[in-house]
Amino acid sequence: MNHWDQFLAPYKQAVDELKIKLKGMRTQFEQEHIHSPIEFVTGRVKPIASILDKATQKEIPLDQLETQMQDIAGLRMMCQFVDDIKKVVELLRMRNDFNIIEERDYISNNKPSGYRSYHVVIEYPVQTIHGEKKILCEIQIRTLAMNFWATIEHSLNYKYRGQFPEDIKMRLQRAAEAAFLLDEEMSEIREEIQEAQVYFTKNKEQHKNTRKKN
Ligand code: GTP
Ligand code: MG
Repeated sequence: MNHWDQFLAPYKQAVDELKIKLKGMRTQFEQEHIHSPIEFVTGRVKPIASILDKATQKEIPLDQLETQMQDIAGLRMMCQFVDDIKKVVELLRMRNDFNIIEERDYISNNKPSGYRSYHVVIEYPVQTIHGEKKILCEIQIRTLAMNFWATIEHSLNYKYRGQFPEDIKMRLQRAAEAAFLLDEEMSEIREEIQEAQVYFTKNKEQHKNTRKKN
């Protein structure tokens, strides 16, 4: 096994295990017929070329990647609604199979680019044949709209190598605003539907009770 394969093996194991665990949370909501705050989960190990690029950019010595690069193992949890993000974070805080070491809220404080997401950095213990190894993983939690924006911005970023022309930068900021409004609109629709459901359930109960009486 070459050096990189050896270095990345526990990261791959962490991503594989966490994908199963986090997807399992979604399955449990489905089984109990509760709205799942998790829509879908993805995960990846950062490609070697990207690790090297980032190490150069951030001046991280290669022998300090383990402690200085938090997103070599990366998980993403997508939610339908902004409120679901809080629930997902709560669920992560409750778990005792890993420790949260940092949380970054780019939803209350979005980045100048327009990027929104909630980041949770965890220390995940991987069991290896040489003993336990703690691996840093970055979990990004975001709505489908936030994910749509970030995915496209990221692929354009790649094309322009991080140097967007001013007009594109502005358009991306406007697109981020549109994604934000979409999230707001969806939350409002959802609240109205939920109110209607409560009303409907109450009426059904009343209807049953009056029928019993007669
Ligand atoms: P990194 O050097 O990327 O780790 O930035 P950081 O140390 O400031 O951490 P941060 O939590 O801000 O960013 C980590 C990750 O968030 C990145 O690797 C991206 O996946 C994502 N991210 C942050 N900012 C942006 C952005 O403007 N656009 C997109 N598409 N993704 C972003
Ligand atoms: Mg980072």
